[in-house]
Amino acid sequence: MKKLVVLSGAGMSAESGISTFRDAGGLWDKYPVEQVATPEGYQRNPELVLRFYNERRKQLTSVEPNQGHRLLARLEKDYDVTIITQNVDNLHERGGSSHIIHLHGELTKVTSSYAPNDSRYIKELKPEEYEVKIGDLAGDGSQLRPYIVWFGEAVPMIETAASYVSQADILVIIGTSMNVYPAAGLLNYAPVGTQVYLIDPNEVNVQSSRKIEVIRKGASEGVAELLTRLRQ
Ligand code: OAD
Repeated sequence: MKKLVVLSGAGMSAESGISTFRDAGGLWDKYPVEQVATPEGYQRNPELVLRFYNERRKQLTSVEPNQGHRLLARLEKDYDVTIITQNVDNLHERGGSSHIIHLHGELTKVTSSYAPNDSRYIKELKPEEYEVKIGDLAGDGSQLRPYIVWFGEAVPMIETAASYVSQADILVIIGTSMNVYPAAGLLNYAPVGTQVYLIDPNEVNVQSSRKIEVIRKGASEGVAELLTRLRQ
């Protein structure tokens, strides 16, 4: 089976009703990124940061995967599919995909404030535990924090992700502005022979001179179009 790797970003979930970050009216317009998505912001005001992610988590219970997520799952019949996502939602999982690498963490998980990447302290929350409060503790006695990779923090899954991209026959980039590194740099790991598709309703400024087949559509229609093109 051919190896098909997807690199998805916030636009993948836009049609499910989750805001992107950098589009007009996006999340970073409403919440300053340095307050809610950096270790310094968390140190300064942990309560605000917990509340921000509690809201994001609560939103998960009211949104559904869109056709784009579902069609990606269907690709598993014909391809060996790996989804590398920058998204912290669980819509790829709920859309039926079985092999997902979360580069920037997962909303449904919490971890230790001292050692966020220590697997002993990473815990999956049940929906009734989605509201994390000051005083809720990790296994090492530290405050529970969201299992999210914040700006300025290491991205532990990047090497695993790069290794999948370096073996891809087909790479499909969906709904990411390709602004945030190291995720955006993953394209550089695709071998010259890899066929690269990009699905986005807007123009994306990709820092690469390689040939990319652009599908200028939203995620649902765009993935449907991808399926048609792959069949040709
Ligand atoms: P951005 O908000 O930067 O980019 C969203 C992309 O989705 C843009 O290129 C939009 O044109 C596109 N888009 C909008 N609607 C779409 C639709 N219906 N279908 C498909 N695409 C659509 O989001 P990311 O690139 O994912 O990190 O941002 C990367 C990282 O920066 C995030 O993971 C997050 C953020 O700060 C952390 O929180 C650590």
